[in-house]
Amino acid sequence: MRISVVQGQIQATPADAIIVNLFEGVTAPGGATGAVDAALRLGSAADRGAISQLIHLGDFSGKLNEVGVIHTHDALPVPRVLVAGLGERDKFTLDRIRQASGAAVRKARELGCKRVATIVHGSGIGGLEPQQAAQATVEGALMGSYQFTEHKSQPSEKSIEELIIVEYDSTKLSAVRAGAQAGEVVAQAVNAARMLINRAPNVLYPESFAQAAREMAEQYGLRCTVLAQAEIAEAGMGGVLAVSQGSQRPPRFVILEHMPEGQPEDAPPLVFIGKGVTFDTGGISIKPSEGMSTMKADMSGAAAVFGAMQAIAGLKVPQRVIGLIPLVENMPSGTAFRPGDVITMMSGLTVEVISTDAEGRLILADALHYAKRYRPRGVVDLATLTGACVIALGEGVAAGVFSNHDGWCAAMLKAADAQGERMWRLPLYPEYGERIKSDVADIKNSGGRTGGVGTSAYFLYRFVQGEGEYPWAHVDMAGMTFSAEDRGYLVKGAMGYGVRTLVALAQAE
Ligand code: BES
Ligand code: MN
Ligand code: ZN
Repeated sequence: MRISVVQGQIQATPADAIIVNLFEGVTAPGGATGAVDAALRLGSAADRGAISQLIHLGDFSGKLNEVGVIHTHDALPVPRVLVAGLGERDKFTLDRIRQASGAAVRKARELGCKRVATIVHGSGIGGLEPQQAAQATVEGALMGSYQFTEHKSQPSEKSIEELIIVEYDSTKLSAVRAGAQAGEVVAQAVNAARMLINRAPNVLYPESFAQAAREMAEQYGLRCTVLAQAEIAEAGMGGVLAVSQGSQRPPRFVILEHMPEGQPEDAPPLVFIGKGVTFDTGGISIKPSEGMSTMKADMSGAAAVFGAMQAIAGLKVPQRVIGLIPLVENMPSGTAFRPGDVITMMSGLTVEVISTDAEGRLILADALHYAKRYRPRGVVDLATLTGACVIALGEGVAAGVFSNHDGWCAAMLKAADAQGERMWRLPLYPEYGERIKSDVADIKNSGGRTGGVGTSAYFLYRFVQGEGEYPWAHVDMAGMTFSAEDRGYLVKGAMGYGVRTLVALAQAE
């Protein structure tokens, strides 16, 4: 989708559809929406515009994500007007702009529109900064109209070719242009993450993910190093090796580095780590077959880091940032690791394997240890780590967060909140550490059924604490992989959760 920014009146813009907006409960629209309404007094003696009439008849109330459709009958140089509901005025946020924009642009796509013009939601009557409002409008538009057609032999022809952002106030134009450009970079990164998550697991596996990272890094100017199996073994990453040993697909360990010009080579970076299990069968502790196919999304943390690094490079964030992505496939086979095995991790800690299905923590542990060499200012790991977290917080509701550092955790929660990516902090009580003590090794990889999300986080903490400990936040995003429906800027399928929070955190810190 091409995106352009023009100065002008939305109602005079030739397109297949124009998009305006309305707060809930408003009966007499003002601003750009009012101007369109005034131009749509369609009856011979109509004293009410078509938008007012829609509201008057009760066909449209301005609820968030509601989209009203009006045909203009040649009263305007455009055949239809879409009215995006913004919800209640006193609950208005940047994230609601993304949602309203996403719902409206997707509707335009479904109607077969090729050329769509929209106002910047929220910068006029909404009272938000024009640059941020324009960024959110474009983010919503691109995320909300995303389609995954890679595996279709006959992809749908309905796709929007051009989105025109129309701003009437010429003093806001340069801010709107800057916001639109940033929004495009961010949304493309979210959609790239979604694409990796949606991709079938016979197509996306450690090597092909690493190859995608190489190509992305080349395009965006990131440094990229990929450790192959021999180098992973050389580095002593016992967790990565153990999990991958049952698969025909060898592991990879991807290191992406964003280094802004003029920074010293050893500037303390932010480090983002993503769980990259390209398919999780559970291994010898095999999962039930029902629903197993969703475990292609067990690399959603890795996809979030991939997308975030793409956007951070695209936005030229003035800060050194490193992405670490351990990639494995967890399979049962004659070469697979087993319950009872004891693994020596990169840190030197030994781990008794209770369940081969508690594999994510094993690969993350090596990455968390690896991160210490950078002396990071802060580390975030994102992982689809436990079903227990989904039970606790709900599917599609929020991710769980654990941290050893209140300031760093608060910074991340603040970034997440502004992005509308819900996160909820949970405690890292020492009792969880007690539960993962092993009789035969230093620790074990499962602490039993109760408190399963806390013991998994404490397991990771064991590789952060001690010599070289850094501020760390762990995000268990197991419930935040797929959206069950089209809603706002979410489309059915991969959400691309986490990308925008990491980008916002890198920009803020
Ligand atoms: N990838 C799963 C967690 C998961 C569950 C992600 C549901 C997304 C949706 C993880 O590797 C896993 O299997 N965890 C086990 C841990 C247990 C064996 C200690 C779990 O949560 O049951
Ligand atoms: Mn598992
Ligand atoms: Zn897993």
